[in-house]
Amino acid sequence: MANERKATAVANANIALVKYWGKRDPALILPYNGSMSMTCEGLQTITTVAFAGEGQDEIIINDDELRKDEKDIRGHLDRIRKLAGIQGKARIVSETNFPVAAGLASSASGLAALTLAAAAAAGLQLSPKDLSILARQGSGSACRSILGGFVEWKRGSQPDGTDSYALQVAPPQHWPDFRMVACIVSDKAKPVGSRAGMAQTVATCPYYPQWVETATKDLETVRQGILTKDFLAVAAAAELNALKMHATMMTTTPPIIYWTPATLEVMHAVRAWREEGIPAYFTMDAGPQVKILTLEPQLAEVERRLSQLEGVARTIVCTPGQGAALQEKHLF
Ligand code: DP6
Repeated sequence: MANERKATAVANANIALVKYWGKRDPALILPYNGSMSMTCEGLQTITTVAFAGEGQDEIIINDDELRKDEKDIRGHLDRIRKLAGIQGKARIVSETNFPVAAGLASSASGLAALTLAAAAAAGLQLSPKDLSILARQGSGSACRSILGGFVEWKRGSQPDGTDSYALQVAPPQHWPDFRMVACIVSDKAKPVGSRAGMAQTVATCPYYPQWVETATKDLETVRQGILTKDFLAVAAAAELNALKMHATMMTTTPPIIYWTPATLEVMHAVRAWREEGIPAYFTMDAGPQVKILTLEPQLAEVERRLSQLEGVARTIVCTPGQGAALQEKHLF
């Protein structure tokens, strides 16, 4: 159709090595602290967007119509339409190669792919910086998935958010041996979404100021460790950072406990393996899944040991991946 605007984008999820947890401006999605992630080849979303319709926006994710619009995707589409000066309703088809809503950063890859595809379909030509700023307003962690490799989301200080965006610290080929193994211990949707969980933490956790202060130091350690490829420095700081984030979650009112017995089983196992000299560390996000950080030479052994743990249903191995990109092949 001559006047139909359609575009398709592919984006990878990312694993935060220093977490984003708390907004200083919830409307613009501006964080209290900067964060750092690895873009993950292996956890991918492909999204096609067309602006042509009338009536309601139609959003289909993995063959199901979106019902609970937790991330306000429709509001994000309005933002993009406004920026582009267009009015057509959107038809969106999105596919992921991993379970959504299980704590595997589906919103990061989802909102990054959606932002790029929708911006292109709307006729916007944006720089990576402006795309990252736009994706950030859809979901904070999505701003990091616009870039590939090792990525830092700058906290920024401007009230309008124009200096809060993601930058590549190192490309994927800088550290090709880095591995993240996502352990699926539960396919159930998490009890509290990250958006609600972090708002509650900022409002009620007595240790929140200490979180912000130490996360900012962790960011320096991890950035330096990435640049010098110092695995122990990066992975140890990432593990402690994740535990500190979970400590803030557990001490909000009411407390949020994402861990299950299987989460703890994997955490203890990883610590025991380390005693045997295997370089493996863990991190977790707002959910029960454990993500293991290791290096390619140890991957087979880590996978072998994980397969023997009762609580681990399956694993997904990720390597440093590319940033979001447009592709020619559409989903409809
Ligand atoms: C624990 O990016 O999902 O995964 O900005 O409200 O959409 P919103 O939150 P979201 O939060 C991610 C939180 C985290 C840590 C991280 O990825 O940095």
